[in-house]
Amino acid sequence: PHEIARIRNINKIQLGDHEIEPWYFSPYPKEFSDVDVVYICSFCFCYYGSERQFERHRQKCSLQHPPGNEIYRDDYISFFEIDGRKQKTWCRNVCLLSKLFLDHKMLYYDVDPFLFYAMCRRDEYGCHLVGYFSKEKESAENYNLACILTLPQYQQHGYGKLLIQFSYELSKKEHKHGSPEKPLSDLGLISYRAYWAEQIIILVCSMRNETTIDELANKTAMTTNDVLHTLQALDMLKYYKGQFIVCITEGIEQQYERIKSKKRRRIEPNLLSEWQPPV
Ligand code: COA
Ligand code: NA
Repeated sequence: PHEIARIRNINKIQLGDHEIEPWYFSPYPKEFSDVDVVYICSFCFCYYGSERQFERHRQKCSLQHPPGNEIYRDDYISFFEIDGRKQKTWCRNVCLLSKLFLDHKMLYYDVDPFLFYAMCRRDEYGCHLVGYFSKEKESAENYNLACILTLPQYQQHGYGKLLIQFSYELSKKEHKHGSPEKPLSDLGLISYRAYWAEQIIILVCSMRNETTIDELANKTAMTTNDVLHTLQALDMLKYYKGQFIVCITEGIEQQYERIKSKKRRRIEPNLLSEWQPPV
């Protein structure tokens, strides 16, 4: 809670080919507040205060993908699963970087209880991080996501929704219902609401027969609470003869047509068939 009041301390970062202005405070070592640019390695996320130090690091850094198993690959993206206990430095570095774009999360150094799911684009140089989410190994509240970030240079291209979908595909494989850790940031909430609405509209409109909140929750791995709120927000719930009925209005029908006409990339669940929840 004390961090919230702290002002932005890093002027600028250079990450791969991208120069980025941070949004918020992040607890990088004090001396980094005084430099013009913090140079960050886009593979290991180690940070340097001068270009010379950074270049020296790049000569030595051999990492070409996140330090974990590739658990998903399609023609567009790959996902790597990284254990916070085994890859402390990489995970802490990613948390430090994330904090530059998050105003309220507090977890930077205790990465042991988390798994990190890193989404990458591939090219001839390696697998480049686009975004990631962290997930508690054990969540008492059934959270299926702790922290989510799309690197700023990749935001608003649909990657956030792919990350969110991936988190629910994992929950489906665990036979659990999940929800993101609260509170969500404004951008987090916008993205989740968009994802939830889309899922519910697609399901209800494609089923064509009566459905229940429980059925929708089971098919999406969403909590009944999130399904209920999404249905309410979409005005798809009618109270009729003592019970709630899920209904399709003309507006929803139109939204469904719009969703279908957008050619969106999606996670292909079959490509996750080998994955087992880590024990
Ligand atoms: N303004 C308005 N709408 C926005 C938006 C913005 N800046 N960013 C995303 N959206 C909307 C998109 O329009 C999209 O909805 P649509 O498909 O109905 O058009 C939806 O949110 C998801 O967009 P998408 O491109 O898939 O997400 P993203 O890759 O930009 O990632 C976050 C979303 C939340 C991960 C990203 O904004 C982020 O990393 N923010 C900083 C960290 C953070 O706040 N994390 C959440 C709290 S833990
Ligand atoms: Na988008």
